[in-house]
Amino acid sequence: MTETNFPEGFLWGGATAANQLEGAYDVDGKGLSTSDLLLGGSVNVPRKINRTIDPQAFYPSHDAIDHFHRFKEDIALLAEMGFKVYRFSIAWTRIFPTGLETEPNEAGLAFYDQLIAELKRHDIEPLVTISHFESPIGLTKAFNAWASRDMIAAYTRFAETIITRYHHDVRYWLTFNEINMLTRPMGAYLAGGMYVDDSDRFISPNTDSEQLRLQALHHQFVASALVTKFAHELDPQLQVGCMLAYRMLYPYTSHPDDIAMVQRATEFNNFYCGDVQVKGHYPYFARRYWRDHHLHIDMAPEDAATLAAGTVDFYTFSYYQSSTMTCTGEGEKTGGNFFSGVKNPYLERSEWGWEIDPRGLRTALNQIYDRYQVPLMVVENGFGTRDQLIEQNGVKTVNDDARIAYLKAHIQAMGAAIRDGVDLVGYTSWAPIDIISASTGEMAKRYGYIYVDKHDDGTGTLARYRKKSFYWYQQVIQHNGLV
Ligand code: BG6
Repeated sequence: MTETNFPEGFLWGGATAANQLEGAYDVDGKGLSTSDLLLGGSVNVPRKINRTIDPQAFYPSHDAIDHFHRFKEDIALLAEMGFKVYRFSIAWTRIFPTGLETEPNEAGLAFYDQLIAELKRHDIEPLVTISHFESPIGLTKAFNAWASRDMIAAYTRFAETIITRYHHDVRYWLTFNEINMLTRPMGAYLAGGMYVDDSDRFISPNTDSEQLRLQALHHQFVASALVTKFAHELDPQLQVGCMLAYRMLYPYTSHPDDIAMVQRATEFNNFYCGDVQVKGHYPYFARRYWRDHHLHIDMAPEDAATLAAGTVDFYTFSYYQSSTMTCTGEGEKTGGNFFSGVKNPYLERSEWGWEIDPRGLRTALNQIYDRYQVPLMVVENGFGTRDQLIEQNGVKTVNDDARIAYLKAHIQAMGAAIRDGVDLVGYTSWAPIDIISASTGEMAKRYGYIYVDKHDDGTGTLARYRKKSFYWYQQVIQHNGLV
């Protein structure tokens, strides 16, 4: 058998987010989150936001895949694949239903007590995302969420409550999912919890602006640093990480302006957030960016010291695809959930327009490690595609060869990056079980090793079935990355 490049103890697993799988959106005192007001969409139809629940409408997060009632069965399946780590988020609104309470909701904590105990029983290391696109709508209504500095106190109250409760069992924490999404218009609501306008669209020039988003991002940086410092002081064993949607960018042409465009976009999309969270200060180009875009970020006198004192221990990121850009006007436009660019003529793409680029992952890992020199984890990567449930020898399954091919190529790219010298310590693919899509709200866009019988219209038995990739990933883990 050939050697793998993956070090002993490499953390193999998968990642999910509460609002995309738990369901039980109003059980045991849970409040409404921003994601609970999102209707379903598709690749061509953007998701709309309701300000209040319309009883006639279908909200994908409300029942999702009912993991809330089936978590034991689901975790047993992850354990059967040999998971070493499981990344999940804690729904803020189970713990602080409106975000404004001063005391946590004990019933909400009781759910995560059980979930974490179940993971430990199976020897699976929990990796908790504190905030993953599910802030309380109560805070949006109270002060437009992250637009306000008041959000820092609400977030630290929530984060400190769960870190204090779980630090004996949970060593790894991520403060914000894809924090750099807040630089994008679509991130204003999902990542920033900020209101859009009455047209119920994600993006509205009336309520959304880059000024508002970057101010909100500054509040998240401060909140993240405060919580990181709190965790380190509470328990020096704790490891706190940042999480970004890494944007691997290529120029479409060799025109010098295209190269410069990629350089600037790489700085802003990746290093603006990464530098603050890993190095503890804004990068040199931030001032130029604010000046050129006529932005003014309000900072309290103590913020610089707070950022410097709350740097993260490790860097994590999502990687699904690369993007290609140009200022020449050439090329054909392509999709993506938050980013878009022009089609790369050398890459294949999914039905949702996401370009498949495993080599780009190796390049990204080298770029990130070169800049930060801290341990890295790839905490999201996967292939969203339609699956066909079939019956084989009396057992229901899916022959998801395209998913296996995608994952295999990306795991090989990670192995190559480790050989390059990158300190990569974990991989949690998205998502080990079929859950609802963040960008479209669909079930049809599936990522799992486990098929869930649930459909876009809400029908389905919710039964779980092992796909071909389930057995494939089990082997990958067993042989520490040999694919
Ligand atoms: C990431 C998010 O942007 O991409 C996840 O952190 C999301 O929440 C994932 O599910 C895949 O995107 P989508 O839109 O296919 O679900």
